[in-house]
Amino acid sequence: MYLTSEEEKILEGEYGEGLKKAMEILVAIGKIYDADKLIPIASAHISGVSFYNIGEAGLNFLREFTRGLKVSVKSTLNPSGIDRDRWREMGINKEFVYKQKEIIRIFKDMGVDIILSCTPYLAGNKPEKGVHIAWSESSAVAYANSVLGAMTNRESGISALSASILGKTPNYGMHIKEERRPTIRVKVKVDIRDESGFGVLGYILSNKINDEIPWIEGLRNIDLNKLKILSASIATYTGLSIFHIPGVTAEWRDFERPVEVVEIDEKDFKDGYEYLRDSFKKVDLIWLGCPHASLDELKKIFNLLRDKKVKTNLWITTSKVVWKKAMELGIIRGIEDSGAKVFSDTCIAVSPLKNRFRNMVTNSAKGCYYARGLNRFKVKVMSLEKCIETALKGYVDT
Ligand code: F3S
Repeated sequence: MYLTSEEEKILEGEYGEGLKKAMEILVAIGKIYDADKLIPIASAHISGVSFYNIGEAGLNFLREFTRGLKVSVKSTLNPSGIDRDRWREMGINKEFVYKQKEIIRIFKDMGVDIILSCTPYLAGNKPEKGVHIAWSESSAVAYANSVLGAMTNRESGISALSASILGKTPNYGMHIKEERRPTIRVKVKVDIRDESGFGVLGYILSNKINDEIPWIEGLRNIDLNKLKILSASIATYTGLSIFHIPGVTAEWRDFERPVEVVEIDEKDFKDGYEYLRDSFKKVDLIWLGCPHASLDELKKIFNLLRDKKVKTNLWITTSKVVWKKAMELGIIRGIEDSGAKVFSDTCIAVSPLKNRFRNMVTNSAKGCYYARGLNRFKVKVMSLEKCIETALKGYVDT
């Protein structure tokens, strides 16, 4: 991999141990993936924030690795394991909070914008089409590549952190236009009724395509919230970082429609919903806002809950940026009058809630995956409207 003389000097340690380590990481990745050089990035988005995920070893690593270092480009941060202001209401213990706040402080001291959100594009970090970035958080990566047309590989927390320090990333994969070309045409022969179906579609694709980049036809009434849920689900279940939807996503005009076709029908959706619906009746927790809720979603939830009371835990997660806007508009208070909670800075999947709840209902297929895996919850996926209906009853019929 070609390095400029300045990059060589960093690698040799002329500018200190910290920059040397960051450069070693990027060069090692570049060599593995056969990158020709490093390219400048406009922004970084860093995951690996929750103490629940990274633990004591991760915290020690961050303390050492980041000592004296600052970010050199706009850099934002993924959700943590707590709402910094309302962790008591989440039932999180003080020891966890102490460690979590130290992690956040480390990033803050480096100059990272502490948005603590998986929707940086709704919280002040929205790149333009064609711009190179280095983001971790798979849902945001798929959204940035597909919907915005920005160019990023699916970085790990550590590679995004290294990129944020050096302002560069290895040039391979999603940074090369040709690598973003759709390779399989997916015909969806079902009128997907609501946003939960867009998440189920991500799961179905994992059984239908094999590392191919889908060009998805037959989707109607698409909006930002559906694209958010689809991006999260495709990234989670297929591992892909990009998809194309004719007439919708940023680059569909830049490529030819692929020749090979797969079809998705009612039976696929029936099986998909079945896979994402465990058996339980009384509901412990309902989670909306995965990926973090937009202002429109909060307005919708507010209208559905007006003058009503929930009979179980209804938790909604969003970014602090969106939370503040909603607070000014009276939406947060309106939602919480029902007994629901709107938390910011956090994500249920990376919060230590394993022993607090046994099951969860959500409109997000990605939420199901992580709640099952990390918190061992039983899950059911359904539309936002059905989630609210369930919150008002406290149980599910089927
Ligand atoms: Fe975001 Fe957590 Fe869902 S990081 S995409 S709210 S699992």
